[in-house]
Amino acid sequence: MIKIAPSVMCMDLLALGAQIHQLDSMGVDMYHFDVMDGHFVPNISIGAPVVASIKKVCNVPFDVHLMISNPLQYVEDFAKSGADIICFHAESDSDIGQTVDKIISLGKKAAIAVKPGTDIDVVLPYLDKLSMVLVMTVEPGFGGQSFMESTMPKIEKLRKINPDIDIEVDGGVNPETIKIAAKAGANVFVAGSAVFKSENPAKTIKLLKENALSVL
Ligand code: DX5
Ligand code: ZN
Repeated sequence: MIKIAPSVMCMDLLALGAQIHQLDSMGVDMYHFDVMDGHFVPNISIGAPVVASIKKVCNVPFDVHLMISNPLQYVEDFAKSGADIICFHAESDSDIGQTVDKIISLGKKAAIAVKPGTDIDVVLPYLDKLSMVLVMTVEPGFGGQSFMESTMPKIEKLRKINPDIDIEVDGGVNPETIKIAAKAGANVFVAGSAVFKSENPAKTIKLLKENALSVL
């Protein structure tokens, strides 16, 4: 199933409530939260209190992408704040197996993210426990970067191994690049700048979905 996950970090933070309200009314699939600690990536973004505030006003699944050095230490905070899917990086300092188990023990769905240069094989031992794998299509840290097509073979490989798991792409997704990623086998698409720098975010989300479906 094709899902578009608007990136909260890329919304107008001053008008967050209104923006969420507008997207909810068009039936958005999930929200993507980029959490950065200024250590795993050279940027600092939103944290658990923001997730908790938005959770109070909407029922759409929350996909929380932890770009932090020690996810194991923080998964409980994000579980409590209302995350439904907790995604952490294979390249972080936390033990991968322990972190996956902790997320599941908190009653949440676990996902692992890999940076563009990381081999997809690192996720394979955990695949049975994961609901999603995030293949980064830019170096994590900033919105507004260009989509890296060089990451597509990882998606193709994973899709062959598991036809059912959600494969998410994050970074540089726009109405053109989404077709490339969908063709490779991705089905969850983070939408940042392409949506929120457009004149009509709701319309752009619809277009993204149509374009992903058009290549299947
Ligand atoms: C990078 C971020 C971004 C963001 C999406 O660390 O994770 O990829 O969500 O932003 P755009 O769509 O602008 O690349
Ligand atoms: Zn992200």
